[in-house]
Amino acid sequence: MNLKNKNFINTQDWTLDELDYILDLASAFKNNSLSKSLAGKSIALLFFNPSLRTRTSFEIAMHRLGGFASIIQPGKDAWPIETREGIVMDQEAEEHIKEAVRVISSFYDAIAVRAFPKFQNWQEDKQDSVLTAITRWALKPVINMETIIHPLQELALMMTIKSHFSDPRGKKFLLTWTYHPKGLNTAVANSAALISTRFGMDVTILRPQGYDLDPQFIETAKANAASYGNAVTITDNIEQAYHCADFVYAKSWGSLNYFGNWEEEKNIRRGLKHFIVDSDKMKLTNNAFFSHCLPMRRNVKATDEVIDSEYSLIYEEAENRLYTTCALLTAIFGGAL
Ligand code: CP
Repeated sequence: MNLKNKNFINTQDWTLDELDYILDLASAFKNNSLSKSLAGKSIALLFFNPSLRTRTSFEIAMHRLGGFASIIQPGKDAWPIETREGIVMDQEAEEHIKEAVRVISSFYDAIAVRAFPKFQNWQEDKQDSVLTAITRWALKPVINMETIIHPLQELALMMTIKSHFSDPRGKKFLLTWTYHPKGLNTAVANSAALISTRFGMDVTILRPQGYDLDPQFIETAKANAASYGNAVTITDNIEQAYHCADFVYAKSWGSLNYFGNWEEEKNIRRGLKHFIVDSDKMKLTNNAFFSHCLPMRRNVKATDEVIDSEYSLIYEEAENRLYTTCALLTAIFGGAL
């Protein structure tokens, strides 16, 4: 399959066959297939936000494959970057994204970007303006390392699911909101809804009233589900949601209704700590697996008992970030096993 130079912005832009190809390649990497097919290749990793798993998995993947990765943190170890068009640059930013990306494109073979929302105005943040600008000016393929979605996490999640259910179709996937002291990005939740429906799972989203995900993602998830004859259930009924679930995926996210107004939302969120994943809730399931993208606050999002249980797949999913990244890079750079 030829995926050379294809952007990886959103899994919805890739066919199911292409995604399956990446997941199969990732399994081959996990089974100790080694390749130095990216010798001489390089990637620029632009981090506008912190990371542990994404950063290190890319660095190790490029090293194992014989290539090279540079970390660039605009505003920290590189110039602060302006992303808006037609702006008078008399504030902090020293460099415009157009020049930065054109220069990086001339040095590197691919560009990967992490740029979270600014958490001030969802209507602006949902435009994904940093990633959009970089994709516009890049002369090399662009990979989304998490903006308003997290497609790399989708790959690792689906690889994990498929290693426990050879056919995920019809398995009950529960995406549950959990409490967190801060209003967090909706990216992983959006992505979990997209990838689980894409592979035909029977998806329930459990969230308190006022914590609905953006309609653009819910509508896409519903369309994915409909192609299998499924629907997406959205509920605030904890017991019903957990009942007979096969896979419980936990994530916290801030309310879009209060975006940029977290102080007011905090008072609402404080009353929702009972959404924590605990063993009593897991007992309602069909011996479900549990997972989370990490990082995760213990005994806030899930109890120690759940996190450290035999049915917890958090470490497997995190490890799969490395193999899926190896697979994606190999495909995008036109390498081979
Ligand atoms: N899950 C994930 O993307 O982890 P990092 O934020 O540490 O990269």
